[in-house]
Amino acid sequence: MIRFEQVGKVYPDGTTAVDGLSFEVAEGELVTLVGPSGCGKTTTMMMVNRLIEPTSGRILVDGEDIAAVDPVKLRRRMGYVIQQVGLFPHRTVLDNTATVPALVGWKRARARERAAELLDLVGLDPKTYGPRYPAQLSGGQRQRVGVARALAADPPVLLMDEPFGAVDPVVRERLQNEFLGLQERVRKTVLMVTHDIEEAVRMGDRIAVYGEGRIEQFDTPAAVLGTPATPYVARFVGSDRGLKRLSVTAVEPKDLEEPPVARLEEPAREAAARLRTSGARWAVVLNASGELHGWVSADALRRARERDAVGALARRMDAWVPVGAPLKQAFSEMLQHDAGWVAVLDGARFLGVLTPAKLHEALRRSVDADAQGVGREEVDFDSVSDA
Ligand SMILES: Nc1ncnc2c1ncn2[C@@H]1O[C@H](COP(=O)(O)OP(=O)(O)O)[C@@H](O)[C@H]1O
Ligand SMILES: [Mg+2]
Repeated sequence: MIRFEQVGKVYPDGTTAVDGLSFEVAEGELVTLVGPSGCGKTTTMMMVNRLIEPTSGRILVDGEDIAAVDPVKLRRRMGYVIQQVGLFPHRTVLDNTATVPALVGWKRARARERAAELLDLVGLDPKTYGPRYPAQLSGGQRQRVGVARALAADPPVLLMDEPFGAVDPVVRERLQNEFLGLQERVRKTVLMVTHDIEEAVRMGDRIAVYGEGRIEQFDTPAAVLGTPATPYVARFVGSDRGLKRLSVTAVEPKDLEEPPVARLEEPAREAAARLRTSGARWAVVLNASGELHGWVSADALRRARERDAVGALARRMDAWVPVGAPLKQAFSEMLQHDAGWVAVLDGARFLGVLTPAKLHEALRRSVDADAQGVGREEVDFDSVSDA
């Protein structure tokens, strides 16, 4: 959808801002450009809507060389969230949001109706906030308006330059999550700039890590964190990249252990016999509808009296995550409940448990899979335990 072919930009004063950029943003994909200040991110972004012209190479949008496209027409296809938000101070929030639709010739009433819809979409009540002026908003609210304005004309492409840069970390995380939720629904092709590796990893389907004017690595967040391509990237993503990687690696059914299962209402002695055969020290306990109740130890079952049901001996356990959740969430559940494992559910259905050892394996396997360029399920189990 957006394709850079050997793109370079040398400014008139001789500064080489970027050089030899080649990468692609697929339709509906969110790519983050991350790197330190001055490495050429904004320059890259502004070449896409021709606010800056490259000095070498070419950029294609939908297969078309944009050098041949009228810049005004080109920009209509692209929402642009600029680094400093850039709202017009003397226009209301509603009019700010309606700017682009009005520019491209929508009738005023329709443009304003659309603007109200968009404000609502980014979590600002149009009745409350629409009539206000930018100065009457918090930093986070202004950034939401920036996003709403960029989306207003429903462009297929969204260019965002540090869109959540001007707010504190808590608000930023909320805005990031909201934007990800929004992106799930609207599926724009997004190029997003940030200098924050955490943000790049959280938001990007793929990330371009910039060194000075060049891309050092272009890959999925998990791959960048797991196998940095150069020492520069390794330094940039930091020594805690293993921890960061936890947040981008999902819990998969293959990672799970399947301990014996006992039912709340079943006779304890039957469950005890089953555990003896399997040699397990504990069992997961489910209720009559198959939902997680907790666990029971083999010792407790052994000491059970004749008529005890499993329920009399079981302990509650609330540590669970849905399958597909990030490993980090599973780990955090374990810590929060001071538990040695966490149940993994598919809807209400119990799939298995994730233990710290399995969590480590899952992490290692995803690193190895990226290194080999194959799916995680194809990586041999032994390569993990041998490592
Ligand atoms: N108009 C300009 N003229 C000369 N140099 C520029 C101009 N704009 C940016 N630069 C330089 O190009 C490099 C990349 O800038 P920029 O794309 O803004 O980086 P980033 O957005 O990653 O901070 C920097 O060295 C910057 O000083
Ligand atoms: Mg910049």
